[in-house]
Amino acid sequence: MRDGKILSNIVAGQEAHKQFGGVVPEMASRAHLQNIVPSLNLALLEANISIQEIDAIAFTQGPGLVGSLMVGVSFAKGLSLSLQKPLVSVNHIQAHVLAHLIEDEKQLKPTFPFLCLTVSGGHTQIVLVNSPSDMHILGQTNDDAAGEAFDKAAKILGLPYPGGPLIDKYAQMGNADKFKFPTPQIPDYNFSFSGLKTSMLYFVRDNVAKNPDFVVENLGDICASYQRTIVDFLLMKLRRAAKDNRINQIAIAGGVSANSGLRKALTVLGEKEGWETFIPKFEYCTDNAAMIAIAGYFRYLDGETCGLDVTPLARIAE
Ligand code: KG4
Ligand code: ZN
Repeated sequence: MRDGKILSNIVAGQEAHKQFGGVVPEMASRAHLQNIVPSLNLALLEANISIQEIDAIAFTQGPGLVGSLMVGVSFAKGLSLSLQKPLVSVNHIQAHVLAHLIEDEKQLKPTFPFLCLTVSGGHTQIVLVNSPSDMHILGQTNDDAAGEAFDKAAKILGLPYPGGPLIDKYAQMGNADKFKFPTPQIPDYNFSFSGLKTSMLYFVRDNVAKNPDFVVENLGDICASYQRTIVDFLLMKLRRAAKDNRINQIAIAGGVSANSGLRKALTVLGEKEGWETFIPKFEYCTDNAAMIAIAGYFRYLDGETCGLDVTPLARIAE
């Protein structure tokens, strides 16, 4: 990144997870180890800069799987030590939100304060963003994340990992009114998805007992109905938070913000509510390097560098 503009955004493939039907922590950290040097080399090549030209090194401190974080943190420290360049730690979830502030002529940026619905495989939050360094979590999930609700349902339907994009794909061919899944009942701006996943489990079990081909014959309709339940639930909470806080700058972020049903429904709701909506480019939805760079850039400008004693954090309190 240079002055908030992305020079390259290399994302290593996540093929290792497909083989195991999910993220196996040990496999994930080994894949990080194998991919990290080639990814850096490719990034420098694509950006057309030498490593000596770099001013600062940003890395993900957490939250996440500690083994994978350890690889990134150790590598960043090694680079910092050998190049004598400052280190900047980044909070992964905040980085998803800050991807909206990347300089790009083709993308409008939200103005502060804005609300961001951050929906990923590990988190589901509604965040009030006052500035890059001032964010408040208004609500979050009490159990599973929205991405897990997609991935676990996909697994029940016999689809490979990660199932979110596949549910999205089959949903586009289905009828969302065909089946009914229960909308989770949870107060305030909070979320819960574990009951929804369980309802999918019983729904499939009961119907397959009557017709062994039920899933294959109804895959599009099941995916469309289930996806719509998640999207409606997310937007119902987002709408409430926007109304109560009188905010009309509304963004979505994280892997699930790639979901075509959510993107469409947000646009429609935004027009109705008089919101200005901000939907990330696809490459900035799921985990990516650019979002870590922009988050690190703001911290670097604020003088928030860290020492070589920094350690990964699996969890981060607000
Ligand atoms: O942000 P992300 O790449 O990683 C985490 O920080 O967790 O999000 C990954 C999650 C996975 O659960 C994946 O299934 C989901 O985002 N996802 C989607 C779509 N693309 C990715 N879920 C629904 N529809 C999609 N198109
Ligand atoms: Zn993420």
